[in-house]
Amino acid sequence: MAHNNIIAVLDIGSSNIKTLIARKDEDIIDIIGIGKAESKGIRKGTIINIDTASDSMLKSLEEAEMMAGISVTQVVVAIGGDHISGMNSRGVIGINTKNKEVTEMEIGRVIDSARSVHLPSDREIIEVIEQEYSLDGLGEIKNPIGMMGTRLESEVHIITGLSSTTDNTIKALKRIKIDIIDIIATIRASSEAILTDDEKQLGVIVVDIGHSTTSVIVYLEGSVWHTSVIPIGSMHITNDIAAGLRLTIPMAEQIKIDYGYAFADLVHDEEVIEVPSISDRQNKTMPKKMLANIIQPRVEEILSFVQKDIQKLNCDSLITAGTMFSGGGAMLGGILELAAGYQKGVASRIGEPLGITGITDILDNAEFHSAIGLLKMASQKIDSIPTNNNKKKTTQEKQGKIFKNPLREFFS
Ligand SMILES: Nc1ncnc2c1ncn2[C@@H]1O[C@H](COP(=O)(O)OP(=O)(O)O)[C@@H](O)[C@H]1O
Ligand SMILES: [Mg+2]
Repeated sequence: MAHNNIIAVLDIGSSNIKTLIARKDEDIIDIIGIGKAESKGIRKGTIINIDTASDSMLKSLEEAEMMAGISVTQVVVAIGGDHISGMNSRGVIGINTKNKEVTEMEIGRVIDSARSVHLPSDREIIEVIEQEYSLDGLGEIKNPIGMMGTRLESEVHIITGLSSTTDNTIKALKRIKIDIIDIIATIRASSEAILTDDEKQLGVIVVDIGHSTTSVIVYLEGSVWHTSVIPIGSMHITNDIAAGLRLTIPMAEQIKIDYGYAFADLVHDEEVIEVPSISDRQNKTMPKKMLANIIQPRVEEILSFVQKDIQKLNCDSLITAGTMFSGGGAMLGGILELAAGYQKGVASRIGEPLGITGITDILDNAEFHSAIGLLKMASQKIDSIPTNNNKKKTTQEKQGKIFKNPLREFFS
């Protein structure tokens, strides 16, 4: 297999499947292919029809492959949905090396100890993220390798999801002869796209407003401490507009994107918009404020769910870098202005992906944040993912391959 320093990622969203193909050159990630296809056979991030989901994935992949002039055989995938959740865990081991020194072996053992949590039989671990270590009771150690002691403890954040979702994702991609190198939670990928190490250190919340869900992740002192998914997304705003203005869903979706505003008080009374009408086919004009009045309560509902979720953590004073928004739903006008009322003195803003070159049109499109984060996570850990320019995806040789590649451990 040729190693062309090519990375391919697939973000399986609830409205669209996004594919990015990039070439990695030293520290530069150069996007060379972009694909986007409607998520069919997928509801709330969970596959409900493998055949149609496979077709959508293939459509998205082929669009990116065509642009890149490359055929990929392996991808890193992001999955979302309200089945994703996070928990903190702790592991402890005795150090029995000859000179009591902590080596990579002990780190592996203590992480294994922390990840051995009891999960319901239908759930599995998606990612284990290191928080900190303590050695013989001395805590807040970020990297204990080379230190000496007798008892090593680790604290980790564990992101879990329904096994059926990961299994069906693997199966859907297997149908189109694509191997999965790793599976990551969407919100984790979004946060990697837009956060700097400094922001993670200062304490920051990332809120990804997707189509049917809103995901939340909290970084404190450099590491992840909380992950959760709220079952309300931008789709609910569209539904409210459709019901309120008696429009079809596609019409309401277009109105939301063209004129949607989350904070009615900031809309001038005189501003009018043109909306289609189902019944008399004639466009009608209406005050923009009226549309904002339909949208605002739903956005407030999302923001108050996020606020309640964060309040449980009791960590307000540790969030000094504020709240960052990502996901397509974050592109709604007025969202930051409305969110300002929910935060105590800390700014919120739409995240901007950093360190990406090539076809950068999508950098301003928050729908692509998680796909960009996947590229970054993949590029940090893997030098290259094999591509196969000459063979068709239908080759039999990949069948029966192990999909859960041991490389996924490197993401932990
Ligand atoms: N400019 C915009 N204003 C408001 N909502 C938008 C805008 N652009 C996209 N969206 C909404 O973002 C959602 C898609 O975001 P995305 O992050 O791709 O979701 P998912 O990952 O769940 O597929 C859709 O509900 C879409 O209507
Ligand atoms: Mg998304």
